[in-house]
Amino acid sequence: MEVTYSDRIPNNVGLHDNRRLQRALEAWQPRYLDWWHQMGPESFDAAHVYLRTATDVGRGGWANFDWVRLPEYRWGIFLADPEPDRRVGFGEHRDDPAWQEVPGEYRNQLRRLIVVQGDTEPASVEQQRDLGKTCPSLYDLRNLFQVNVEEGRHLWAMVYLLDAHFGRDGREEAEALLERHAGDADRPRILAAFNEPTTDWLSFFMFTHFTDRDGRFQLEALSESGFDPLARTCQFMLREEAHHMFVGTTGVGRVVQRSCELMREGDTDDLRPLGGIDLHLLQKYINFHFSVSIDLFGGETSSNAASYFSSGLKGRFHERQRSDDHRLLEATYALTEVGAQGLRQVDVPALTAINEGLRDDYIANCQKGLDRWNAILAEQGIATRFTLPHRGFHRSIGIFAGHPITPTGQLVSPEAWAAARDEWLPTDADRAYVHSVMRPVVEPGRIAGWIAPPASGIDDHPVDFEYVRL
Ligand SMILES: [Fe+2]
Ligand SMILES: [Fe+2]
Repeated sequence: MEVTYSDRIPNNVGLHDNRRLQRALEAWQPRYLDWWHQMGPESFDAAHVYLRTATDVGRGGWANFDWVRLPEYRWGIFLADPEPDRRVGFGEHRDDPAWQEVPGEYRNQLRRLIVVQGDTEPASVEQQRDLGKTCPSLYDLRNLFQVNVEEGRHLWAMVYLLDAHFGRDGREEAEALLERHAGDADRPRILAAFNEPTTDWLSFFMFTHFTDRDGRFQLEALSESGFDPLARTCQFMLREEAHHMFVGTTGVGRVVQRSCELMREGDTDDLRPLGGIDLHLLQKYINFHFSVSIDLFGGETSSNAASYFSSGLKGRFHERQRSDDHRLLEATYALTEVGAQGLRQVDVPALTAINEGLRDDYIANCQKGLDRWNAILAEQGIATRFTLPHRGFHRSIGIFAGHPITPTGQLVSPEAWAAARDEWLPTDADRAYVHSVMRPVVEPGRIAGWIAPPASGIDDHPVDFEYVRL
């Protein structure tokens, strides 16, 4: 694939030869930059940041490290290399040639899928706008900005699809992606979890572990799409996404590490006098971020999800590696639901339970992070272990919504649930405490007292490298 470096927008989608598309994107670009200035990282426009920039999808091209001022980041458009003779992998059109153009009958559904995905990308940049001011180290500050610019690029990726394949209404949707804002009373972002500000770095690490991972699983499902440009866009986005989850998983792990050290040094579980984050508080943050993130998968049974699958638009996680019929005409799924006596299982058609299946895969993947954190506890000789709460705990969407279910999956009375709530979820006082330890550390090699340094630096540089020149 040839990259047209001469274009204002680095790309491997032949923008140079498509005047109509080029004009559309060049008209959108200044609005994007306005949005970045207004809603992107506050007060770091002049800083030089050691960032990874994609200039091609090939091995040498997608991870170029260099010093960049954030507003000058080159947000490009890249599709993974095409797969020769690619076929639709699932649903009614299985084995048909993959679509290079939007099938007319699925136009609205496809546009909706792209818009919902696209909406989350700038939303997280908006949510994280203020975080830079309280960074625990320059290494972390750089990682925040890397995540931010890549979420910006993911917005470009979705806007490219809208402009290239959906004509006028695609352009209108591209505009609207810059007009909705996280937490805006009149024009909020589409999904609830993307309207809460990320106010502290513990929340940021939890967000990148849990909520970016929802993003990963949505991209995994879309990367199976029979609409080939969408599949290839998502395949490339997934490479960048992996770094976001690395930031989250290792970030929480470093907090766990530091908390263990403080517990041993002070011979106490109560780390607040030492400026640390105690393990119970970490478990509460896990409970909160896990429960709001699994809401993002939607209702357990969904006719929309069934239709996205049957139509070949959105597959399952690792669709191609599965050995079933890829149509789900006969299969059933054992769904957990809330009965009068408590939780129970019922068999439902697997086709209607696509969302729940993706949630299962997501939960299994989240658990791997917890296993890593628990391994740190074990190494440090601490007996506590973190657990994921039951999927019915603290839900706002689907069959568990509003039911008083405990983290271990017991259906209890609303009074009992309310009485224990502060043991399970962060309280205002907890959040205020976490806030109080978030003081900026911006000297190279120094790190805040509530988190351990990373095991290694970025791009073979040492941990004390000056990753951001302020
Ligand atoms: Fe993203
Ligand atoms: Fe991400």
